[in-house]
Amino acid sequence: TRVLVLAGGLSHERDVSIRSGRRVAEALRDAGFEVDERDVDAGLLPWLADHTPDCVVPLLHGETGEDGALREILELVGLPYVGAGPAASRVAFDKPVAKVVAQGAGLHTPPSVTLPHETFRELGAAMVMHLLVAALGLPLIVKPAKGGSALGCSVVRSADDLPSAMVDAFAYGDTALVEQCIEGVEVAVPVIDTGEGPRALPVVEVKPDGGVYDYTARYTAGSTEFVVPAKIDDDLAAECARVAETIHAALGLRDLSRSDLMIDAEGRVWFLEVNVAPGLTETSTVPLSVQAAGLDLGTLVGDLVRAAVA
Ligand code: DAL
Ligand code: MG
Repeated sequence: TRVLVLAGGLSHERDVSIRSGRRVAEALRDAGFEVDERDVDAGLLPWLADHTPDCVVPLLHGETGEDGALREILELVGLPYVGAGPAASRVAFDKPVAKVVAQGAGLHTPPSVTLPHETFRELGAAMVMHLLVAALGLPLIVKPAKGGSALGCSVVRSADDLPSAMVDAFAYGDTALVEQCIEGVEVAVPVIDTGEGPRALPVVEVKPDGGVYDYTARYTAGSTEFVVPAKIDDDLAAECARVAETIHAALGLRDLSRSDLMIDAEGRVWFLEVNVAPGLTETSTVPLSVQAAGLDLGTLVGDLVRAAVA
């Protein structure tokens, strides 16, 4: 089976994607697959016509990779690929929209306000600050509505810091999501489906040295401690698994996803977001969880490839 790993792209997470791509390509080669690695650019379609891979593993993170655009092209040219389809990806990648779906599926997601840049400009920073703090309280977390790797995200503990946090979020897109910041245990839960239905893998607890799981904490080796399986009660681990499997199914995702959740002091599990192309770098959580499940990354992705071409 000839596999094409697509990595890179032009999103802010290009470097992360290249690292994920390299790791998965190596793992697939170790598992006995013939693997090409390629970036996505104008030469992709002629390349596909010449090389005709059996299956594509799209590992672009962020825009175009996770918003469904690339998967739309793979559908159009009729190439099997691993992962969620275009429509489901588009919904999952839009955090405010995914939160609505999560709520509809009976999950808890932090109260939030979605704010277009234009509204921010029209109302002015002072008014927005007043309204948001009155509606949601403090602390808050401000994020680009669409994005990844915590780029443009800030925790806001004092109202005065809200305007600059919003400006940072708008640097990554024209809509910001302002959420109540749930404090507690931060966990990541992968869900895989190799043909027998969605199944959560071991819960990974994320403990960044500086307290905030930002871009540096995500991608600098040694700057975050990962506890896998997370040291939480079995009931709580089962609830995390249920939440991750529920959102995976509610959004109609396929093959592999990773939900990011918070567990508060009362033991309530909050859905934050789900990723259709989760990071698979040396410092990412999914490979750790795969290993803790007693699985091999190359074998697992290989099984997803086989299921996609079947
Ligand atoms: N957006 C990054 C790649 C992640 O979710 O792992
Ligand atoms: Mg994400």
